[in-house]
Amino acid sequence: MEIKSAEFVMSNSDVAKCPKNPLPEYAFIGRSNVGKSSLINMLTNRKSLAKTSGRPGKTQLINHFLINANWYLVDLPGYGYARVSKSSKKTFQKFITDYFRQREQLVSAFVLVDIRHEPQSIDLEFMAWMGENGIPFSIIFTKADKLKPKAIEKHIADYTAIMLQTWEEMPNYFVTSSSKHIGKDHLLNYIQQINDQ
Ligand code: GTP
Ligand code: MG
Repeated sequence: MEIKSAEFVMSNSDVAKCPKNPLPEYAFIGRSNVGKSSLINMLTNRKSLAKTSGRPGKTQLINHFLINANWYLVDLPGYGYARVSKSSKKTFQKFITDYFRQREQLVSAFVLVDIRHEPQSIDLEFMAWMGENGIPFSIIFTKADKLKPKAIEKHIADYTAIMLQTWEEMPNYFVTSSSKHIGKDHLLNYIQQINDQ
């Protein structure tokens, strides 16, 4: 899919105030600093459409971006950046869980995980929560530029083995690097395929 236009529409912390039209949308979620906003910029060929930062906690609101005037990408705040709470479960902010539970336009979510890290309990908990709530998602392994191809293969095999302890099958997944533009076509074609159905 070619991205002809990408525009910021709105930010807010209330799912009831998100755009009212029925266009399909795809949301990016994952730990703070995993690369959600960078991935949106990579997909849309824009350097700073979504705001990024080396410090976790940059994105604080639900951000809608209108793509090709007919679907949305949604950038969300990260979870797991717990300065206060000890229980990881409490770090899923309510407006984010409300978004996932209530947003009828959501077609699919992408749960981003850093390809360098072993499965983290907060990611596994979040994916379990998505499963319990019947919210479709794929996994995106980010920052693939940080590992060699063999290490990527091994990491995915190890990740899959852990997922299969609780899931019947490994969810659909993608390998990406926003800095090296890896995985862009694969991801956009996937979205296009769903939009065309
Ligand atoms: P929050 O909004 O804070 O939850 O973070 P985020 O998930 O939106 O992460 P963001 O896109 O702001 O990126 C966090 C940091 O990771 C920044 O310093 C980015 O430059 C870096 N980063 C993002 N994607 C990649 C990538 O593919 N490769 C490398 N090497 N660094 C990346
Ligand atoms: Mg962000």
